Amino acid sequence: MSNMVVFGAQWGDEGKGKIVDIMTEHAQVIVRFQGGNNAGHTLVTGGRKIILHLIPSGILHADKLCLIGNGVVLDPDVLCREIDELVKGGIAISPVNLGISKKTHLIMPYHKALDQAREAAKSGPDKIGTTGRGIGPCYEDKMARIGVRAGDLQDLDLIRHKIDKALLEKNSLLQNLYQQQKIDSREVLEHIRPLAARLVPYLTDVSHQIQTARENGHTVLFEGAQGVQLDIDHGTYPFVTSSNTVCGNASAGSGSFYKAQQVIGVVKAYTTRVGQGPFPTEQTNSCGEHMQVQGAEYGSTTGRKRRCGWLDLAILREAVRLCGPTEIALTKLDVLSGLDELRICTAYEYLGQKVLYPPQEENALKKVLPVYEELKGWKEDISMCRKLDDLPENARALIRYIEQALNTPVRIISVGPDREQTIR
Ligand code: IMP
Repeated sequence: MSNMVVFGAQWGDEGKGKIVDIMTEHAQVIVRFQGGNNAGHTLVTGGRKIILHLIPSGILHADKLCLIGNGVVLDPDVLCREIDELVKGGIAISPVNLGISKKTHLIMPYHKALDQAREAAKSGPDKIGTTGRGIGPCYEDKMARIGVRAGDLQDLDLIRHKIDKALLEKNSLLQNLYQQQKIDSREVLEHIRPLAARLVPYLTDVSHQIQTARENGHTVLFEGAQGVQLDIDHGTYPFVTSSNTVCGNASAGSGSFYKAQQVIGVVKAYTTRVGQGPFPTEQTNSCGEHMQVQGAEYGSTTGRKRRCGWLDLAILREAVRLCGPTEIALTKLDVLSGLDELRICTAYEYLGQKVLYPPQEENALKKVLPVYEELKGWKEDISMCRKLDDLPENARALIRYIEQALNTPVRIISVGPDREQTIR
């Protein structure tokens, strides 16, 4: 029995899906503990392309139990669609392989409407660039103690009461502040009714399920979404998501104690970011374009082009400090092939001083100047490499550099999207 956590060490989109997929082999239970359908990764099964936003990809493996923890915000429409897509792809879904915590908060139609109206009303530098999926407003209601939880799906009277109360406030905002249409509470309830009938069988006590798994000697894999720099407390606030993305939340977001034997920090060999917010090593030049094109850097949830730039050790040091990875999975190393020179940001210059970690003042990351070290690139296509020794010396030098700078071993190297394109 052991616990594993997989987390994104940058601004999300590090390629966690592939690493989770590989590690799922060694786990019996896979748990999501934060975020919602702002995340997403693409899978191919039975010749069909499926993009999963909520259900852990472990669902594609036989005999695995996938759990959606209380720290997640769940859009019931999206979950039902995902279940349908998987069933069409020949995957059997039942309460035997999928469970939802009764404490998970539900994203309601008014959360999505508010998220989109707010974003549309913001201009210029105030825009966050949210995914518009209602994530922030749902977490707001959770904290304000007025949220609708998955367990409430068993009691439609309770849901009706909560929707009525919520809409008093939300409709006032939507109509008066944002000049949007009023949302009808009966329509929301009627929309929820069939979804409730479908989802109630999946409700479970996730905390108890994890405990039982441990007692049976099973391995539990906690699957993080987004990345450390999008953490509501520790990320580049306010350009962050609305949950704690750091590994510590694996405990609070699932209802289990936190003692992980293996903590895998997923690090992309360069840096990307979607949405607004500071990005010190961003490259709006041919190098950035190389990463964007070769890495097919488009968001799998919104389809937006991802911003690209050099690897940033300052933010990675912070990820190590916050999450304590036992190892690193370095992804998309193949994307750097063909660049003559590579740059790594080793520190920042901030207010005349050299700093090794991101300063904590709001907007400080907009003011820092990256201090770069140059490394030699390589020309060879490395996507066929399967052993460390197959890699060109300059690629191995980059890996050694990262290991030393972060004092953490790189144990997985991904050189292409396929499962097989991995060095371990
Ligand atoms: P929200 O999570 O939709 O509220 O969006 C807040 C910020 O987090 C925006 O900049 C999004 O682009 C970003 N974001 C949210 N989820 C992801 C993700 O899974 N990958 C990368 N960025 C994300």
